[in-house]
Amino acid sequence: MSFDTQGKVAVVTGASSGIGAATAARLARLGMTVVAVARRAERLEELAAAHPGIVPYTADVTRTEEVDALAAWVEQTHGACHVLVNNAGVGGGSFSGRDDLDDAVRTIDVNLLGPIRCMAAFAALLEASAPARVVNIGSVAGKLGVGPAAYAASKFGLVGFSEATGFAWASRGVTVCELNPGFIETEGFTQSQIKRTPLAGVVGRPEDVARAVHDVIDSGVAERTVPRWYRAFVVTRHVATPLYRAVAGRMERATGSRE
Ligand SMILES: NC(=O)c1ccc[n+]([C@@H]2O[C@H](COP(=O)([O-])OP(=O)(O)OC[C@H]3O[C@@H](n4cnc5c(N)ncnc54)[C@H](OP(=O)(O)O)[C@@H]3O)[C@@H](O)[C@H]2O)c1
Repeated sequence: MSFDTQGKVAVVTGASSGIGAATAARLARLGMTVVAVARRAERLEELAAAHPGIVPYTADVTRTEEVDALAAWVEQTHGACHVLVNNAGVGGGSFSGRDDLDDAVRTIDVNLLGPIRCMAAFAALLEASAPARVVNIGSVAGKLGVGPAAYAASKFGLVGFSEATGFAWASRGVTVCELNPGFIETEGFTQSQIKRTPLAGVVGRPEDVARAVHDVIDSGVAERTVPRWYRAFVVTRHVATPLYRAVAGRMERATGSRE
């Protein structure tokens, strides 16, 4: 069933750069009012100046009171929320021991608890605005345990949360979708290491993901990988585990951190 975006209200977190900025711009071009959320107000104002339909809003997704205030403001100002894109995220570093604990906790706070806070705050408004969509931006690292461990854990957690709420919220008219991008070059994920390897050609652009976000909103599909061919690795992980582990181990050594 296609989803009519014209005149509808979307909230996009992590909209001050990369995938979130590209997604906010694309949804605004589709006729949506887009509340663009992040911590860097100046960046959001620049984005709003360049794209009619984008409304900047400064909030930190690790602060429950700021997320609750965002949802209340959206309801008061726009009266609805038809699409929530949980995109704000950080990469995190490698996990070797005690020195890495704070970074790991921070990564999970932003990448997993952030979307949970947002879904909690917007649940009632999404239901009142139904049919509505939630698009959670996970990662291929949420399907394959490669790269920084806390990052993979945060995204594996998001896959599970999306799937469970997807089943539970369907009867409320709210479709929860999980979108898992592969390597995309952005400020937070420069892909500098992989770009120095023979795998450099796999690195995509934020606009590729923004297009996939629109496809997912339109189709309401439960889970999508972008680019789609990464799915082959996910299938291999389950049906040919020893082969997957051999290839993933080589990739890990070739690419190191996702930073
Ligand atoms: N690039 C990739 O290769 C790739 C692959 C798979 C998945 N992803 C996922 O895609 C999403 C977007 O990443 P990106 O590649 O576009 O990186 P990016 O350009 O660094 O964007 C990250 C965004 O998250 C926001 N953010 C970070 N912490 C926040 C917080 N506490 N509260 C509110 N906003 C916060 C940042 O804004 P402020 O700093 O202004 O707050 C920024 O707008 C992330 O969830 C990431 O895990 C990326």
